[in-house]
Amino acid sequence: MKKYVLIALAAALVLFAAVRFAGRAPSEERSASAPPLPWEAAGEGELKEFALVAGRARLELRPGLETDAYAYNGSVPGPEIRVRAGDRLRIAFTNALDVPTTVHWHGIRVPAEMDGVPGVSQEPVPPGGSFLYEFVAPDDGTFFYHSHVAVDEQVDMGLYGPLIVEPREGTGLREIVLALDDWLLDARGNRLPTSATEEERPVDNELDTVSAASVRAVSGGHMMGHGGMMMGSMGHGGMMMHDLAPELNGRFGNVLAVNGRAGSGIAPVSLARGERVLLRFINASNAMTHALKTSDGRPLAIIAVDGAPLRDPLVTDRLVLPPAKRFDVVVEAGDAAGAWSLDSAESGRVLRIPFEVSSEIVETAPFPSRPERADAKLSPERTLELAVALDDPMRPARWTVNGRSFDMDRMNEALASYPRGARVRLRFVNASPMAHQMHLHGHSAVVRTRGGQVVSNQRPEDVVVVRAGETVEADVLLDNPGDWVVHCHNLEHEEHGLMAVLRVGR
Ligand code: C2O
Ligand code: CU
Repeated sequence: MKKYVLIALAAALVLFAAVRFAGRAPSEERSASAPPLPWEAAGEGELKEFALVAGRARLELRPGLETDAYAYNGSVPGPEIRVRAGDRLRIAFTNALDVPTTVHWHGIRVPAEMDGVPGVSQEPVPPGGSFLYEFVAPDDGTFFYHSHVAVDEQVDMGLYGPLIVEPREGTGLREIVLALDDWLLDARGNRLPTSATEEERPVDNELDTVSAASVRAVSGGHMMGHGGMMMGSMGHGGMMMHDLAPELNGRFGNVLAVNGRAGSGIAPVSLARGERVLLRFINASNAMTHALKTSDGRPLAIIAVDGAPLRDPLVTDRLVLPPAKRFDVVVEAGDAAGAWSLDSAESGRVLRIPFEVSSEIVETAPFPSRPERADAKLSPERTLELAVALDDPMRPARWTVNGRSFDMDRMNEALASYPRGARVRLRFVNASPMAHQMHLHGHSAVVRTRGGQVVSNQRPEDVVVVRAGETVEADVLLDNPGDWVVHCHNLEHEEHGLMAVLRVGR
């Protein structure tokens, strides 16, 4: 008798669960032993609504230099989306371009069906189509949004914008967002193909246009693969990346820009005496690692990378920003009025971001402190090796992960599948002569070792730099169900197959 009561009870429970979950997104179903979903821990914020339209625009980089761009809401970068941790974002997206596109919320731990990856998580939004993105932003930090379709063209032409998630209690500082980019243009502002030769890339007498050779010097960090804020010499030795076809190598521009402006088009950032500000850097370049140095040696305190706070702020006068990475940097205006700048570190002239300290005096705000994120401590149960190399034997001139090249136009089999809650050590083995900026969607990974050495200042990152010939181990808690891509954020590498899918169960 008792047995039947139990069966009836079980049936009722199943029915209850079925009713309860009917109409909910599949990722909100709960399996018994799995950890909470990333956004469940965030607490209740507000609903914030936005409208984004992707369309064509004409961008004036500086007086006398205009180019055809793709833009969100008519501007490059797109409008700043600013919320607080735990807020729910509802973004009505419309595609007014004549090509399909999607929006990806880079670094935000969103549900898979909001992640915007064609062939994996979303059908591309056709020309004239629309899509409603809705998700909670669980973590505070500096993020960005960008197209995930034909990225070497669409992001290159301007489809990116800042997404800032403030801590609930705010940062207490005035904030300045600096989105770095580079454009490859002829003297009249027409976009040049990635394969443009040195002779086809004009260098004019403005400080913002540079030769391919000096770009190579600046981007030595890419080739030699600086690990984000790891300092050291750049552009010396190592293997030469120009041995590769430009399409496989990466698109390096001749016009360097910040917030959609270049050279004389860049307005100085004004500061008051005594002011302490937060600079939020985003590198939106296709392939270029930007290296910036303060003109007067003034210290910059890096307090967060990829949105996650550093245990110990890193004080330096020089920033090395690989593609897709974000650095939060505290800088002080000092006591004296005057001017200083952030300059491209190697040549000193290809990008200059001027700062002006006025004579107005303000009280210095306290140095911000933010708690370390909980996921900084996880310990892995198993290892997945991801070997990055050139050339699929079936398809030459492609990048590969474990011998396979990704293709956006077909369904791509998952490289590995895990139950939700799996703690995995990702071992990136770079057998190629270039650095890669490996980006994992829906999660952040904590770099533990680099070239066999234990890394100091470990914290979650969504872009893991793996230098030429190097092996890097990074631990991740796979707590977000769905299919997630892991790919190189050099946009030419990404479009030439350097991408794989990890599957996380419900
Ligand atoms: Cu910032 Cu898959 O991208
Ligand atoms: Cu790469």
